[in-house]
Amino acid sequence: MREGTSKINLTLDALFKRPDGYHELEMVMTTVDLFDRIDLYQTNKSITLESSSGLVPQDERNLAFRAAALLKEKTGCDKGVHIYIDKRIPVAAGLAGGSSDAAATLRGCNRLWGLGLSDAELAEIGAEIGSDVPFCVYSNTALAQGRGEVLTALPAPPTCWVVLAKPNHGVSTADVFGKLRVHAITDHPQTSRMIEAVKKRDYEGIIRHLGNVLEPVTMDMHEDVRQLKERMLRFGADGVLMSGSGPTVFALVKQESRAVRMVNSLRGFCQQVFAVRMLGVRRESVLDDVRTK
Ligand code: C5P
Repeated sequence: MREGTSKINLTLDALFKRPDGYHELEMVMTTVDLFDRIDLYQTNKSITLESSSGLVPQDERNLAFRAAALLKEKTGCDKGVHIYIDKRIPVAAGLAGGSSDAAATLRGCNRLWGLGLSDAELAEIGAEIGSDVPFCVYSNTALAQGRGEVLTALPAPPTCWVVLAKPNHGVSTADVFGKLRVHAITDHPQTSRMIEAVKKRDYEGIIRHLGNVLEPVTMDMHEDVRQLKERMLRFGADGVLMSGSGPTVFALVKQESRAVRMVNSLRGFCQQVFAVRMLGVRRESVLDDVRTK
């Protein structure tokens, strides 16, 4: 059993649009205790996939399927795998759910097929699947640059409660980036200040330097994201930010009682609301066995 852990952005800055169409980014990313469970069963040659959620494709369009296929192609491995994904991370949410399933599949198949690749090698393969996949291979806390695949490890931020709320619709990352006008950004996050705060385990500093240049873009497309942020601040969040390209908004809260109150108050406004702990480091699965069919 493997776990695909969701990430949140403490910062997301876009520096310029690159000739390849991607944006040059600077992001401080970390993980929270919300994960998909992934079971891998060795089969003969083929790759098959099944999921508990009807919201994700169960074929080669699924990033986990693509991860297994690419790993086979790169290594010449002639074994197969059946992938079962028990989906808990909201889909199209800005939490890297699909990317983390792909990363968990890379790590799991590496072990299942006895390939012996390092995390760095898996991350390099993962970068061909999606910009967030390399981060998800490590699933700790990092500064991500380039397309998102150039990673510098950071220590875990101080622990706190993270209330995540996803409006009842998804967004397409490509759509949000497509509407971003990098030259028009006036409010860039202070990435180096965030890094400093994380290194010092300075909770107040982290709250002060939360920032995401995609937030106003997604808010202009979906008014409910703006309303959600306002509500969370009104309900006593220490800090609130949209994660990735959204539409999930997260609140950082020190007090458990306040996190619980916030979850209850948000339930009428959106269906998917969670209160989880900040993780910041990879949660190694206790059941790290791989069953063989
Ligand atoms: O790499 P990934 O497939 O996750 O990216 C999805 C889309 O998000 C890309 O097609 C691109 O439009 C946009 N993107 C971007 N700059 C990045 C990462 C993603 O413009 N650094």
